[in-house]
Amino acid sequence: MRALSLFLYEAVMHPSMVGALVPSSKKLANSLVQQISKNPPGLVIELGAGTGAITAALINQKKLFHQLIVIERSAKLANHLIQRFPELSIIQGDACRLYKLINKSASSPMQAIVSSLPLRTLSPSTIEKIGIEINQVLLKGGLYIQYTYSLWGKPLCPSAKLKLVQQQWVWQNLPPARIDVFRHE
Ligand SMILES: C[S@@+](CC[C@H](N)C(=O)[O-])C[C@H]1O[C@@H](n2cnc3c(N)ncnc32)[C@H](O)[C@@H]1O
Repeated sequence: MRALSLFLYEAVMHPSMVGALVPSSKKLANSLVQQISKNPPGLVIELGAGTGAITAALINQKKLFHQLIVIERSAKLANHLIQRFPELSIIQGDACRLYKLINKSASSPMQAIVSSLPLRTLSPSTIEKIGIEINQVLLKGGLYIQYTYSLWGKPLCPSAKLKLVQQQWVWQNLPPARIDVFRHE
């Protein structure tokens, strides 16, 4: 199945898990990736990679990290990612189990998490679990980078230990998006 139709299929079948109708634009993906450069290179985790729009932008900026691990919950999307990026560490699993998922593969301290997780449609208990896992794995000073389509809404993040440090609006995306950058205290 082609990437766009696969994405649409997942969005229709699991709307609250996908939280979007089309993949991110190159502009949004590149803007997210640029945020990583605020920290020294290390391990970067991508959460909820979908069909890989942001993954592709990450691969184009290899100097920004030492290792990239991609987590995607949907089996269909994870299989697509494995075929599209055979050289990458793609793990099919739930971000609620982040620590266990990456435990064996992580080879350097975790400097940043780039998240496409649809926090506005996931349940509060799921978000709380994801926050506990992030607190466990992300370095102090590490970055949590999340985007939202709620351009003026309150920034959402999974953990109170993540402090908002920057926001960037990206108009060249469907729909336009806002990037929220948090630092782990
Ligand atoms: C907005 S879509 C991804 C978009 C993609 N990153 C892009 O830019 O085109 C959100 C993705 O998060 C995944 N997802 C949702 N809940 C998840 C969870 N608990 N753990 C891992 N992935 C999850 C969904 O399957 C979906 O692929």
